[in-house]
Amino acid sequence: MDNLLKKLYEKNKVSEDELLYILDNMNESYKEKLFTYAHETSKRYYDNRIYMRGLIEFSNHCKQDCMYCGIRASNKVAHRYRLTHDQILQCCEIGYNLGYRTFVLQSGEDFYYDTEKLCTIIKDIKSKYADAAITMSIGERDYDTYKALYEAGADRYLLRHEAASENLYNRFHPGMKLSNRIECLNNLKEIGFQVGAGFMVGLPYQTNEDLVEDLLFLKKLNPHMIGIGPYLPHKDTPLKDENSGTLEKTLIMLALTRLLIPDCLLPSTTAVGTIDNKGREKALQAGANVVMPNLSPTNVRELYSLYDNKICTGDEAAHCRVCIQKRIESVGFEVDMGRGDSVRL
Ligand code: 5AD
Ligand code: FES
Repeated sequence: MDNLLKKLYEKNKVSEDELLYILDNMNESYKEKLFTYAHETSKRYYDNRIYMRGLIEFSNHCKQDCMYCGIRASNKVAHRYRLTHDQILQCCEIGYNLGYRTFVLQSGEDFYYDTEKLCTIIKDIKSKYADAAITMSIGERDYDTYKALYEAGADRYLLRHEAASENLYNRFHPGMKLSNRIECLNNLKEIGFQVGAGFMVGLPYQTNEDLVEDLLFLKKLNPHMIGIGPYLPHKDTPLKDENSGTLEKTLIMLALTRLLIPDCLLPSTTAVGTIDNKGREKALQAGANVVMPNLSPTNVRELYSLYDNKICTGDEAAHCRVCIQKRIESVGFEVDMGRGDSVRL
């Protein structure tokens, strides 16, 4: 194991069998080593800096029906909301004044926001805040829409692949196809976006073999950003009685991702902060280098409910800004409020 971890650290590459061996045989002392290597690697590429992104959850309407997700179309008790163009711009204004230079516009798959509406929002944000980057995270759309968003000024796009193993993917995504998702990711890359993929850890039935597939998929896709968080149940979904993913396994997956794709931007996610009060700090120590505090109006935060017990739902953007800075500094990192583009560019 020691040799394998060292090889991963030095060459950022191991075989499928070796990855499986690492996952199957992880223990406390190897974990320490793994996290140290991951931390060293993020420092090598990004120094001690943690990038901040302001997250705007602008609609929880969704036409998809992912089994794990609280805003799935079949959830008839979810209260649905949409932010207006002006409300979205207000969130940006608050965020910009707090120092944010990346806005992440996230929603369910809500086609109320057609290409034209989305492009107007993007152009208006860009014309007011020219030095800020815009990240879109609105699910699967066709090539022409992605292209139009890019031309309107969007810089980045997050679309987690969710599960690279076809079996697992099909189990949780009725009416969706992994091949389609991969095509979307390839389209986004070709158009010129900085692209983010990623997956959940601890989905029901997920095996170490599945997780190895996720890592190898990411290695091959080589995205700029990678979102990884634990699966957490939501009370109004078919998976409500399933166990959550664990913090421990999530940290291992973050660290392995840092070593396999050493220059990626790797968020310490809200979900990891939800399973453990110190989860986000621990994720930074395991190789993560981005945090995405919430800029959504507090009256909708609770409604953007993908899983139960989401943190920060009652906290104003200004509060989170200070809170997260303290947390980042408590584990020896410093906040970077710049755009935080991939070092690859
Ligand atoms: N638990 C954890 N993460 C979830 N997501 C959706 N539902 C859940 C859940 N129940 C993740 C998906 C999605 C991202 C925005 O949130 O990976 O891509
Ligand atoms: Fe929101 Fe700590 S980051 S309260």
